[in-house]
Amino acid sequence: MLEMRNLKLTLNGKPVIDGLNLEVKEGKIHGLLGVNGTGKTTLASLIMGISYPDEGNIIFEGQDITQCTISQRAKMGITLAWQEPARFEGLSIKEYLNLNRDLSLSEIENYLWMVGLPPTEYLNRAIDVSLSGGERKRVELASVMAIKPKVVILDEPDSGIDVVSLPHIMNGITEMSKQGSAVLLITHSEEAVSVADEVSVMCAGKVINTGLPEEMCQWFKSNCQTCNHIGTLEV
Ligand SMILES: Nc1ncnc2c1ncn2[C@@H]1O[C@H](COP(=O)(O)OP(=O)(O)OP(=O)(O)O)[C@@H](O)[C@H]1O
Ligand SMILES: [Mg+2]
Repeated sequence: MLEMRNLKLTLNGKPVIDGLNLEVKEGKIHGLLGVNGTGKTTLASLIMGISYPDEGNIIFEGQDITQCTISQRAKMGITLAWQEPARFEGLSIKEYLNLNRDLSLSEIENYLWMVGLPPTEYLNRAIDVSLSGGERKRVELASVMAIKPKVVILDEPDSGIDVVSLPHIMNGITEMSKQGSAVLLITHSEEAVSVADEVSVMCAGKVINTGLPEEMCQWFKSNCQTCNHIGTLEV
């Protein structure tokens, strides 16, 4: 459904994305593992249209969207979960989840339950500094779920999340896929990646292996964590 073909992007003379191929299948959760600086967030911005590749193509539902703008991609159903809903400071959570939408109260409540936030406690809370980092991430995830995107890119939704909140985040991600959204899940967490149907390992700007979560976690640990990731691990 979403395919990256031979993507390349050089920034400041450095090939950050270097011949990357990846396919995210309809309704599936695709995990993406890779050490720091390997180009995962850069890939997320290329998929979303925040930046454009020097070479290669992005195909979505059979259509070449490489040159489409962010808003065109958003209208097609491609969404990225922003790390911080800071732009909406001051809105209540209820208002935020219903922004540009027309949801019933019970739908809004349902999205909050999916990320483990009891509606009675959270519906009327303001989006401001009084929410903890983990609560903000969960609100953001609920808001992305309410969009019902065809594809969602989650860039480290588990970062800064404690062991108690992580299952709620993972439950939210699984619910999104059950709802029909394809998910590209960028993470460093072995636990988070276990909800994926398929996992790819990225190294030095390209995908170097793809397989089942458990298999790829092992492979990542034995190959990447001992490597200087110069891109020599091509398989
Ligand atoms: N605008 C830019 N100009 C120059 N270099 C950049 C730019 N944006 C990113 N980079 C570099 O590209 C590389 C990949 O960065 P990216 O943020 O995509 O990595 P990442 O895989 O998401 O890492 P992390 O796991 O730490 O989040 C890094 O070396 C980064 O410094
Ligand atoms: Mg990153």
